[in-house]
Amino acid sequence: MSARQKRSSAANLSSGMNEILHQLCCIGCGARIPGAAARSDFRCTVCGELYDVEYPGWSQRGGQDRPNPGGLKWVLRERRSSTEAVDQSGVWRFRELLPILDNFGNAVTLREGNTPLYHMTRAARALKIDQLFAKHQGMNPTGSFKDTGMTAAMSVAKAWGFECVACASTGNTSAAMAAYAARAGLRSLVLIPEGKIAWGKLSQAMDFGAVTCQLKTDFDGCLRLLSQIVNEAPIYLLNSVNPYRLEGQKTPAFEIAEAFDWSVPDHLIVPGGNLGNSSALGKGFREMLELGLVTKMPKISVIQAAGANPLVRSFREHQAASLEPVVADTRATAIRIGNPASWRKAVRAIQETGGWCLDVTEAEIAIAKAEIGAEGLGCEPASAVTLAGLKKLRAEGKITSGETVVLILTGHSLKDADYTIDFHRGTLLKEEEAAGREAEIAALRRDAVAVEATPDAVLAALKGSAR
Ligand code: F0G
Repeated sequence: MSARQKRSSAANLSSGMNEILHQLCCIGCGARIPGAAARSDFRCTVCGELYDVEYPGWSQRGGQDRPNPGGLKWVLRERRSSTEAVDQSGVWRFRELLPILDNFGNAVTLREGNTPLYHMTRAARALKIDQLFAKHQGMNPTGSFKDTGMTAAMSVAKAWGFECVACASTGNTSAAMAAYAARAGLRSLVLIPEGKIAWGKLSQAMDFGAVTCQLKTDFDGCLRLLSQIVNEAPIYLLNSVNPYRLEGQKTPAFEIAEAFDWSVPDHLIVPGGNLGNSSALGKGFREMLELGLVTKMPKISVIQAAGANPLVRSFREHQAASLEPVVADTRATAIRIGNPASWRKAVRAIQETGGWCLDVTEAEIAIAKAEIGAEGLGCEPASAVTLAGLKKLRAEGKITSGETVVLILTGHSLKDADYTIDFHRGTLLKEEEAAGREAEIAALRRDAVAVEATPDAVLAALKGSAR
């Protein structure tokens, strides 16, 4: 049975999917289809573009399915004291805003979301910005923002009766997918680029029981191959081309608005890889605006690594009308992606909010990561592009001191401990990469020192490191 037949027959039996409330709308040609009719690679049959999940009942003002902003805000607060799993999840707590399941009690959840919003006091001082925050998505159950999307799409996979799920990954998607598949009792298949993912992430995929294939290709090659595989076997694709992933990943937008008492910050800064996350956050804010939960959208800026910057080039060279894939290379392996699937959706989020798209060097990423570490927060390298990007935007006068800025930290610092250790040992950056930044780097490095086991030696070490 093909994946599509399997999905249709499962949907006909007992979908567990809310096919009345939602449909899929192609972002290229506007074609609308029921969720169960999507191809297994989630590409539009007419034009090959990706789909957005759409809720037709919302567009009529006062329509029956349209959430009432005042009532919803009250319910959301009430759920914070609930002991029910779906209420404790920071994704399903917002279930009226992602009505994709018939029975939310069947959601596959690890109590994801509800991540902290930290004040970044040191960076705020250094950059002369009054209100600077980090929304730390690395504080999710498997240590990255992918959990919010995975709970949504895995619940759909289960409702449709799939027995096997799969993803191509630079590491975090595979860790999240493997965990949620294990919770759902499904088999999972991971395709990763050999030697190009951080050990912490690989270890999670193994720990959670995925079949992990290391391929002699890059992320883009893994995703291409997987799109073929899901056409031939009844395997459910869980990359962010799957529009249900983005329904979960839009929920941090709701959390941010809620944290600011339903006003929104001026500016959101997001790392860009396959560009699902920036797209999802844009969708979250857009929908809140349409529903009257907020009165404006924040500017959304996307930051890429200079060695993996296809979207930056697209803006620079083609006014974001087309995108030419690049051969990607960066030590921020999570965003080592040359042909991002969701680039059109990300362009929409940037353009409609008046945000920017720029890139940062390896040295800028390393320095920013160490600075986030020195705040006591820490993050993985890909997340640090946000602070590096903010510095550039601030220097260019694109962000003023009175604005409220939120950086989206996408992954936990323990995901890629090798990177951190290499930085502090001074072996991360090549001489030419660090050129001109040596003093800044030296001030941030905290290598472990070998010390004799005596009080004097330890106290001398303490004195030596005093700055
Ligand atoms: N930050 C981290 C920590 C990531 O793992 C990723 C993507 C991104 C940022 C970029 O997000 O792709 O939505 O633009 N990681 C994917 C993976 C590709 O396979 O784990 P994006």
